[in-house]
Amino acid sequence: MQDIEIAEIRNLTQVIRETYDYDFTNYAMSSFKRRIQRVMDIYKMTSVQALTNRLKEDAPFFHEFVSEITVNVTEMFRDPSFWRVVRDHIIPNIMLNHDTINIWHAGCSSGEEVFSMAIMLKEMGVLGKTKIYATDIDKDILNRAKQGIYSAKHMDLNEKNYIRFQGTRLLKDYYSEKDGKVHMDKSLVANVTWREHNLVSGPIFNKFDLVLCRNVMIYFNQTLQNEVLKKLHESMFKFGYLAIGSKESLIWCEIANKFIVVNNEEKVYKKIKD
Ligand SMILES: C[S@@+](CC[C@H](N)C(=O)[O-])C[C@H]1O[C@@H](n2cnc3c(N)ncnc32)[C@H](O)[C@@H]1O
Repeated sequence: MQDIEIAEIRNLTQVIRETYDYDFTNYAMSSFKRRIQRVMDIYKMTSVQALTNRLKEDAPFFHEFVSEITVNVTEMFRDPSFWRVVRDHIIPNIMLNHDTINIWHAGCSSGEEVFSMAIMLKEMGVLGKTKIYATDIDKDILNRAKQGIYSAKHMDLNEKNYIRFQGTRLLKDYYSEKDGKVHMDKSLVANVTWREHNLVSGPIFNKFDLVLCRNVMIYFNQTLQNEVLKKLHESMFKFGYLAIGSKESLIWCEIANKFIVVNNEEKVYKKIKD
């Protein structure tokens, strides 16, 4: 197998930008390259040029490509200690000054994060006071999120996380099981708007008290992290909260001074300047 050249990747991202207005230019190079190679292996393509040509001509294939190129790994109550901080500190603090809570899950993948939020809010008795937007660039994964149907095999890990989160019930109270699949209780997400949205090129569409953009910017280079953080910042009310993934940091970003750290372990920040 020949190593992929950076020039070939540049050409591919340029063609995608010109044809579909999706900009992958500033995705972190090494993981992006690995994912390109994976797509070529899956579709048995021997050159980046062949992939580029197919992408240019075949829009349905482009959407399959987006699904393959993005990393969708997720779980319910991922990092249970983070969810305890959301329940015990963040939501009560927002509720001090607001009757309703606006939450944005940016990069929600297959929706486990959104169902975790809804379950937590229900247990707190404030789900009915919440409006949630859940967005992702990948429309196939977003459709799966909307359905709220998951493999029963994955529920062991989700259940373990829920126990560590110290929820007040059993996770299985929130779903029914049939033929190896679990169907989440749809009433949990009655107040959720699911929407295809690209964090790189998409508009700012609302203001939020809490934005979760966890394990998304990790795939972006520094330039893109700066751009996306500016967008997230603009989408937040002053004194709103931002949560990123446990292995991510805002510290190097250009507008880091517009936030303060609320919890360094769990990577929760508060917007303090417009
Ligand atoms: C690893 S998942 C994170 C899911 C969840 N937030 C979590 O922490 O478990 C990353 C998600 O970001 C999405 N994503 C990648 N680039 C994006 C972009 N430019 N705009 C919106 N979503 C994007 C991917 O499609 C994927 O579903």
